Amino acid sequence: MGKKKHTGSQLLLLCSYKISPTVLSPTVSVFVDPFFVAPFQSLSSWFKGTEITLWETVHGIKFWEFMNQNPAINQRFNEAMASDSEIMTSFVVKSECKQIFEGLGSLVDVGGGNGSFSRIISEAFPGIKCTVLDLPHAVANLPEADNLKYIAGDMLRGRGTRINRNKVLV
Ligand SMILES: C[S@@+](CC[C@H](N)C(=O)[O-])C[C@H]1O[C@@H](n2cnc3c(N)ncnc32)[C@H](O)[C@@H]1O
Repeated sequence: MGKKKHTGSQLLLLCSYKISPTVLSPTVSVFVDPFFVAPFQSLSSWFKGTEITLWETVHGIKFWEFMNQNPAINQRFNEAMASDSEIMTSFVVKSECKQIFEGLGSLVDVGGGNGSFSRIISEAFPGIKCTVLDLPHAVANLPEADNLKYIAGDMLRGRGTRINRNKVLV
């Protein structure tokens, strides 16, 4: 009996993104989870209510507060973002888009999550000093490198003046 062949889309979901960068299972697992789907099933309540966001209508607090208060879900969400970024960054950094980064001395990745995007850039371009700015719960206890640093902060409050001489990824 020959080995079972998988389709391309099955291969994207098969193993952990920590083993292979081209895996989207963390992203799919979060986006089909009831905590994430429930808001989209409550559009009529949101239209009739007074909350600003759909998320507040269903979960009672803003999206990023919810992530801050639910570390396990926050970790899954960050891994979902990271698995998506790993695929995108591999294409961006290894393809003809790489000239975007050539010659840069530094960049700031605003809302960079756990820094997956910046980590790949920092490894591909050791001469670029990468700084990831994200909320404290997103950047806590992440390993830095010589050219990869994390800043815990709020992009809407004040940090901009200290990092405004860099290229900024959002
Ligand atoms: C959709 S995720 C994208 C993460 C990352 N750029 C990636 O592609 O993997 C948005 C990020 O914005 C961050 N964020 C939201 N509000 C923020 C704020 N006020 N200041 C800094 N970061 C914020 C979240 O914590 C989250 O990591």
